[in-house]
Amino acid sequence: MKLLKEKIEKEGQVLSDTVLKVDSFLNHQIDPLLMKEIGDEFAKRFSDQIITKVLTIESSGIAPSTFLGLTLGAPVVFARKRKSLTLTDNLYTSKVHSFTKNETNEISVSNKFIIADDNVVIIDDFLANGEALKGLIDIANQAGATIVGAGIVIEKGFQEGGKILREQGLRIESLANIKSLANGKVEFYD
Ligand code: G4P
Ligand code: NA
Ligand code: NA
Repeated sequence: MKLLKEKIEKEGQVLSDTVLKVDSFLNHQIDPLLMKEIGDEFAKRFSDQIITKVLTIESSGIAPSTFLGLTLGAPVVFARKRKSLTLTDNLYTSKVHSFTKNETNEISVSNKFIIADDNVVIIDDFLANGEALKGLIDIANQAGATIVGAGIVIEKGFQEGGKILREQGLRIESLANIKSLANGKVEFYD
């Protein structure tokens, strides 16, 4: 997605060979016009599918997911990372390990909001090792829902997540796929 790649080139900060900071439009401040375009692009890429629900994880998956949900006219469900006061029982849960942060979180979704009849598209802001995506797939599977695919805003193609999950048959649509962050420079595939 040209607009997104230009935004990354202009505003992204390469913090190391593996980490890209994009807090001016995705992870802290949000650019709503760009998010609208991102939502529309996901909708276009999955236009061959019937989608009844968008599934994501808090916090940075919510903005792109909401714009996709708006375009599709479908509800958006976000997995919670912390225990909630009101979200207590009838939960699907999955353990998500972050290699980056070296911590494991239990994520949860109420069984009211993902059901066996759902055709789910899973959205996230980054794809690195694929742990968050695996957790969301696990939850959709526990609900017996059909997963039509995953939409990722920024894939770090030099990490393993995308490769492993595609080999398992998951359809992944990335709007920007990064080949390398070496020498402080962002290099994209194609
Ligand atoms: P994985 O799910 O693909 O295995 O990723 P990992 O554990 O490495 O990611 C942990 C957190 O760090 C996730 O956000 C993920 O989106 C984010 N992340 C991974 N690589 C990068 C990167 O290069 N740049 C940025 N900006 N983020 C990255 P999170 O902690 O769940 O945060 P949030 O959703 O609340 O923002
Ligand atoms: Na994130
Ligand atoms: Na995320």
